[in-house]
Amino acid sequence: MTGVRVSMYRPDLLRGQRILITGGGTGLGKSIGQRYVALGADLVICGRRAEVLAQTAQEFKDTLGVSIETHVCDVRDAQAVTSMMDAIWANGPLDVLLNNAAGNFLARTERLSPRAFDAVVDIVLKGSAYCTMDVGRRWIAAGRKGTAMSILTQSAMTGMPYTVPSAMAKAGALAMIRSLAVEWGPYGIRTVGVVPGPFPTEGAWSRLMPQERIGEAPIEQGVALRRLGEHHELADLCVYLISDSAAFITGEAVVIDGGRWLQGAAGASAYHMQQWPDSTWDSLKPKKTAT
Ligand code: COA
Repeated sequence: MTGVRVSMYRPDLLRGQRILITGGGTGLGKSIGQRYVALGADLVICGRRAEVLAQTAQEFKDTLGVSIETHVCDVRDAQAVTSMMDAIWANGPLDVLLNNAAGNFLARTERLSPRAFDAVVDIVLKGSAYCTMDVGRRWIAAGRKGTAMSILTQSAMTGMPYTVPSAMAKAGALAMIRSLAVEWGPYGIRTVGVVPGPFPTEGAWSRLMPQERIGEAPIEQGVALRRLGEHHELADLCVYLISDSAAFITGEAVVIDGGRWLQGAAGASAYHMQQWPDSTWDSLKPKKTAT
């Protein structure tokens, strides 16, 4: 494992930074939010369910002694996004937006109804766009710099069977990051992405790793580093990318997956070759012939 954790960040690194995490009440968004708060950020989270937001806010209060701002908002609704941003800005402008809210499930694409397709694409693609456009508009009008970061998936780069709406939507979000990096770069607005590999969460695991998948090779076998990710590792990358240390990075999506997608690209035989004993490699060497 990763051994003793030593943080490379100053404990007040994010002091004065006002950050909105969409879908920040659960899963990876919650873990990233905890890290941001621990480093002094002023955190705002939104989600669809008031009770989940309230529970997370209470947990932050109990464990970190910090009050966070919560907003019930379905990012699929552009008007609701604008109303939420109005309410957030009434307390002060944001410095960072993290598009984290997502929807996904396993399904054969030919069986998806239009509503099923929309349910995922509306959250992941449109929701990220509505939030980014709204925040960007306010930053540009005020002459403020800012960072809009989005959580992507490997499928944005490679496609992915059985999660096609999500793959299409995440690919669109990646195109947004690259496009706006250029369009909004002159305003000092950065757009960046993070591509997490296997970081277990209750939501993703129950949806994407159902019982039916038990019996498959362990996920770790498909990861070059042979382990799953730990939430604090993802959170640390998300801290770096919004920090001043990353001020020259824009339009880039950083993969943090232990080498999973490259292990997959290398093909199944790479895994077998990784198991070969020295004797197999030795047998492949050319035999020295006596002269
Ligand atoms: N397979 C096929 N179709 C599905 C489905 C599944 N597993 N889950 C939902 N759908 C379809 C529904 O049947 C419905 O279509 P229909 O009316 O034509 O039958 C459509 O999607 C909308 O379903 P509904 O439950 O009303 O949508 P919703 O907007 O309430 O929720 C999600 C859809 C994706 C947002 C929901 O699964 C969710 O809340 N997920 C939690 C967040 C999440 O997925 N995070 C990502 C973890 S990896």
